[in-house]
Amino acid sequence: MIDQTRLPVEEIYIECLDYKSVSDAIRNMLIRGAPAIGVAAAMGVSLGANKINADSYKSFLLEFQQICEELAGSRPTAVNLFWAINRMKKVTKDNNDKTVDEIKKILKDEAIKIWKEDIAINKSIGKHGQELIKDGDTILTHCNAGALATAGYGTALGVIRAAWDAGKKINVLANETRPFLQGARLTTWELKKENIPVKLITDSMAGHFMKKKEIQLVIVGADRIASNGDVANKIGTYTVAILAKEHQIPFYVAAPLSTLDMALTSGDQIPIEERSHEEVTRINNKTIAPEGIDVAHPAFDVTPNKWVNAIVTEKGIIRPPFKENIKKLF
Ligand code: MRU
Repeated sequence: MIDQTRLPVEEIYIECLDYKSVSDAIRNMLIRGAPAIGVAAAMGVSLGANKINADSYKSFLLEFQQICEELAGSRPTAVNLFWAINRMKKVTKDNNDKTVDEIKKILKDEAIKIWKEDIAINKSIGKHGQELIKDGDTILTHCNAGALATAGYGTALGVIRAAWDAGKKINVLANETRPFLQGARLTTWELKKENIPVKLITDSMAGHFMKKKEIQLVIVGADRIASNGDVANKIGTYTVAILAKEHQIPFYVAAPLSTLDMALTSGDQIPIEERSHEEVTRINNKTIAPEGIDVAHPAFDVTPNKWVNAIVTEKGIIRPPFKENIKKLF
């Protein structure tokens, strides 16, 4: 996998040969973005399963469950992580009559299937979502919901890519996305590579450009969407949604169905990850705040469904009322 903590300065690929290194890569955000960590976790489960020395299904399962638990503990908010691990658990249980070696092969195939499916899903999200974009539009995005955050192509950036490929002359404003700077480091890097016009702005500039009517729509990804359409995404998304509402600018979310958590009735139930305070007090190993300063660092926030104009999925565009319309897709 590409080490996203080194981008955009260095494009370095790391090799994970066991599930512990996959779990560490997710925890330390070498790989990040909801669908990408789901795919990585599935591959981590397969790597872990391969190394289990067991002669019966029962003893295999014991170690297998512990591997799944460790991977599931790597990050709490993006539901795709648990979705992918549960899929790996399900194929194991569904094949409990097979030999351990056969199960290992089935798990490998399933991880590869999850990876390939994700790329196809993103292309489909792009195809549906690009209809929301008009020729000449300037689009604001927050965080990185691109190829890096998925198995490829991206969700929110997939929509942008599809609009560009359809020949629409668009411009992108990328919020830098403090504190981890996914917008500054990753979104700009991805779009620049493909010559899609992008301008980097700091998070505090978004309102200014909306007021000047220089933004026609907002599109972001999601880490978890409750069954009522409340959306957890990178910290700062909530603020962007309120700004968009005030300026009558449509606010769209692009995400695969695996990001929808039908077990939750409201976004208030979504666990919000609190990350290291050093991510706030330091940039590129340089201290930017007084030693010992008190810090808060919720990595995500929840945007209420009332401020979301549409959710773009691989099955099409969902519009309000979300509770009823989301249910129809399952
Ligand atoms: O903390 P991160 O970088 O993993 O957070 C990622 C985001 O919030 C993305 O916007 C979201 O996962 C959508 S990715 C297709």
